[in-house]
Amino acid sequence: MAHTQGTVYQATWGKRDTQLILPTNSSLSVTLSQDHLRSLTTARCITDARPDARDRLWLNGDEEEIKEGGRTARCLEEMRALRRKVESSDPSLPPLSTHPLHIASENNFPTAAGLASSASGLSALIATLARLYALDDAHGVSTSDLSRIARQGSGSACRSMFGGYVAWEQGERADGLDSVAVEVAPASHWPDLHALILVVSDKKKGTPSTAGMQRTVATSALLEHRIKHVVPARMERISRAILARDFDAFAQETMADSNQFHAVCLDTAPPIFYLNDTSRAIMQLVAELNRASGRALAAYTYDAGPNAVLYVQEKDVRTVLDVVLRYFPQTRASFPDPFGTGASPTGESQVG
Ligand code: ADP
Ligand code: CO
Repeated sequence: MAHTQGTVYQATWGKRDTQLILPTNSSLSVTLSQDHLRSLTTARCITDARPDARDRLWLNGDEEEIKEGGRTARCLEEMRALRRKVESSDPSLPPLSTHPLHIASENNFPTAAGLASSASGLSALIATLARLYALDDAHGVSTSDLSRIARQGSGSACRSMFGGYVAWEQGERADGLDSVAVEVAPASHWPDLHALILVVSDKKKGTPSTAGMQRTVATSALLEHRIKHVVPARMERISRAILARDFDAFAQETMADSNQFHAVCLDTAPPIFYLNDTSRAIMQLVAELNRASGRALAAYTYDAGPNAVLYVQEKDVRTVLDVVLRYFPQTRASFPDPFGTGASPTGESQVG
């Protein structure tokens, strides 16, 4: 079992190699605490399998096809190959690598709606198989090795193998060995920083991330500009802001990057719209709140979907939640009040 959730605030959008999943630019994300949003994945080796038994995967209760040569299949292959290596070096281990796998996973947050379920789900899958197969430091397998495999399942999953603030360095090699996730700071570095998840819509998005990205790479001139002239310096600034716990700088970079990412989506032909009117109203509300306060109270960011992630310092969580709930009244509370007062429903906003 494993649970991980990665929320991207600097979008990885664009791949230079779609097989190995090598990105056109570096990126950075925050892995949220597993207490709130998570993928819960269970894997089992079918040791008494019939000859026609095969690998199977259930996602949120429905079976998903594992396409031959597809990404999930490639991840399973790579994990089996590592297990085979470990088995051949330690004959006391049972030959698990020969058995079919049955895998079940459940996300407790919307799937394919721009809250990084692919990053969460694929990193949980790799972490789960690593545990089942005993692929750990004791057997010569590092988290970085696992992260490289997770990357081939879903690019952003390479970051979510680590906790805290994680960069994905694009790398230069054609084989992708230097396209790796590295921790910028552990989660404990900035305990004061909270993420409020505002679920605007839990519907599956119209354009899946992979298809959208390929279209952007093929058609957007703005993406070229972003990759060459914006992202490298922004990676530096955002890493510095995190290390210095400089919320104002962090907020400025985060919102600017989200805006440019969605501008790139609009610059794609045909255009991709991930934000909706509610998303944009939240952006305006945050901008107005920050302006009226004379400092950044909240920073919004949207990945490939309409749902907002608001970063807020602990001292401002109550204020920001009050304002959000005033403008977007909730009809049902699907999460408990994060302050445990039970007084005001938090709707689908969530402190992570
Ligand atoms: P998102 O914005 O949620 O990351 P994507 O389009 O990038 O949306 O990816 C969604 C896909 O990720 C799903 O259709 C599914 O194939 C895969 N996925 C999501 N959650 C899981 C999970 N828990 N386990 C395995 N695969 C998952
Ligand atoms: Co995704």
